[in-house]
Amino acid sequence: MSSTSPAAATETAEATTATPQTAAQDGASAALPSPPYTVTLIPGDGIGPEVVDATVQILEATGLSFVWDRQDAGADVIPRYGTPLPDEVVNAVIKNKVALKGPIATPVGTGFSSVNVTLRKRLGLFANVRPARTLPGINTPFKDIDLVVIRENSEGLYSGIEHVVVPGVAQSIKIVTEAASLRIARFAFEYAVSHKRKKVTAVHKANIMKLSDGLFIDCCKRVAREFPDIEYQEMIVDNTCMQLVTKPHQFDVMVMENLYGDIVSDLASGLVGGLGVTGSANIGPDAVVYEAVHGSAPDIAGKGLANPTAVLMSGVMMLRAFGEFDAAKRVEDAVFAVFKEGKHLTGDLGGRATTQEFVNAVIQRMRA
Ligand code: NAI
Repeated sequence: MSSTSPAAATETAEATTATPQTAAQDGASAALPSPPYTVTLIPGDGIGPEVVDATVQILEATGLSFVWDRQDAGADVIPRYGTPLPDEVVNAVIKNKVALKGPIATPVGTGFSSVNVTLRKRLGLFANVRPARTLPGINTPFKDIDLVVIRENSEGLYSGIEHVVVPGVAQSIKIVTEAASLRIARFAFEYAVSHKRKKVTAVHKANIMKLSDGLFIDCCKRVAREFPDIEYQEMIVDNTCMQLVTKPHQFDVMVMENLYGDIVSDLASGLVGGLGVTGSANIGPDAVVYEAVHGSAPDIAGKGLANPTAVLMSGVMMLRAFGEFDAAKRVEDAVFAVFKEGKHLTGDLGGRATTQEFVNAVIQRMRA
């Protein structure tokens, strides 16, 4: 399979507003792969296998041809490989350059490091693009939200450097580098330009973390000067959270370091229907991993109740990066029609449908 341009992968789930040419505008045209599309499939754990299987069913119903290179990761593979992230998984993504991934649980407080974070680091997936926009038929307090959180994926408090100084005192070290901050800032502005967006908000806490967040915001400022046509705004992260739930329409593209991106994107998901509906792309120079914003949802795992829309929307982002705009739109139109009809909604959206009933309804719509 030829390579998927990282820029192409920035094509987002914003189908109703994006022009069909967007991925090409991102420079993908020369490198677009062709069917059959070989995709590393990482079902993950918890609800992962359920929502990934649902997504595969719907993507295959587009009529496009896929080769799914299935790879397992997470706690279940430790007895077999001695690690939750076998090299086979990483190598498969490197080979195929693209993966569709379900969530993978991380033990709290003890145990192995996050497979999700390790995968992003090993593959150099420095940018996490997380769109949140109002979906037709989903009842939410605000209408017409259309924002994109761009999360720095490689450093910050996710650097994994922590230790016990003395018993009773633990320290986590936040790493912020000029190189990674300039890279994510430039990514955000280029994303804004290629997706015809007007504004970039850099989110920070530089009033308190004057050196680390100070460096991050300084880098954003420097890059902003190169893009005079894009409005630039800075906002402190606590105020950002408040503004998101009072005046969310002021936000367009938002760029921030790792932990803020994690938290703010969950908040943004809540504005548009919850974690069951928001997809994302983890983008690096050599590979892209598409996954939902949500985790493994152990409270509903194995019950057939999960909403697969979030992984599906990640899959739609993947289709656009492949240049398959027509198939992407057919999937989205079918999902939106099912939402509007309201008869086959999963529990998180106020309905009673199972995952499979939702899938059947979407596929039926696609075939109508
Ligand atoms: P979570 O996102 O798994 O669940 C939060 C709430 O949202 C739960 O009530 C859950 O039922 C609901 N929810 C999530 N996805 C849903 C869906 N598709 N349909 C319907 N409801 C859905 O967050 P939580 O519980 O904090 O994390 C659980 C595990 O997932 C943890 O081990 C965490 O480390 C891991 N995680 C993995 C991620 C990844 O693989 N990228 C991302 C976030 C968390």
